Amino acid sequence: INMSKEIQNTTPRHVAIIMDGNGRWAKERRFPRLAGHRAGANAVERTIKAAKQAGVEFLTLYAFSTENWSRPQDEIDGLFKLLEQTLDRYAKDAAKHGVKLLISGSREKLPPAVLEKINKAITSTAQNTALTLNLALNYGARQEITQAVNTLLKQGKTAVSMEDISAALYQPALPDPELIIRTSGEERLSNFLLWQAAYSEFYFTPVLWPDFDENEFNKALTEYSHRTRRFGGI
Ligand code: IPE
Ligand code: IPE
Ligand code: MG
Repeated sequence: INMSKEIQNTTPRHVAIIMDGNGRWAKERRFPRLAGHRAGANAVERTIKAAKQAGVEFLTLYAFSTENWSRPQDEIDGLFKLLEQTLDRYAKDAAKHGVKLLISGSREKLPPAVLEKINKAITSTAQNTALTLNLALNYGARQEITQAVNTLLKQGKTAVSMEDISAALYQPALPDPELIIRTSGEERLSNFLLWQAAYSEFYFTPVLWPDFDENEFNKALTEYSHRTRRFGGI
């Protein structure tokens, strides 16, 4: 019998979130879908604050998947416009926020104006240390793994190790996420972090993304702290 106190996981270093449910949030209110995305952008700001507060080092947010290109063009345009606006707002006092921006995903197909703002924000926030925000944008995990293998082939490798693949992913310096959260009641990965999620803990909540806040974030951390992680051991 294990008489010791229940072992608690400490705060995860890296939390990744599939921010889902903006459309349904809008639909419930008879708003256009874009209003849901706008409310979702506010939830992003709340969540960044909460993550910093909790001492999380890395926060990966799934903002746009490689499959999201199949949405109506006006929704896609609206999403990227919103991203530009959010980047502008954030860039103004990036130093105050202490957030360092990284991007995971393919830069191909991103509107040039968005790409320019992203590159600027990456440069201007490079020295920030409070939190690293990794935005998964035009991101697909199968695409990420495939480009990693192609990079290694171009380097002349004829056999690859797991370490080689890890090192050729979009953001090789990030540790694997200990915790992956998905909102809106959906319980699937939707092509998110397939390689990095090998031993992640999953937290699913019915809360729609625009309603997500510090309280919900902390609930996920608490649940995580009670999980037993065995990594194949006993
Ligand atoms: C998540 O919300 C945001 C993106 C995928 C860009 P959705 O737009 O997928 O919202 P639902 O799933 O339709 O409610
Ligand atoms: C996943 O959500 C992608 C993002 C949150 C950016 P989706 O709403 O696109 O996923 P599916 O289509 O329900 O699997
Ligand atoms: Mg969705």
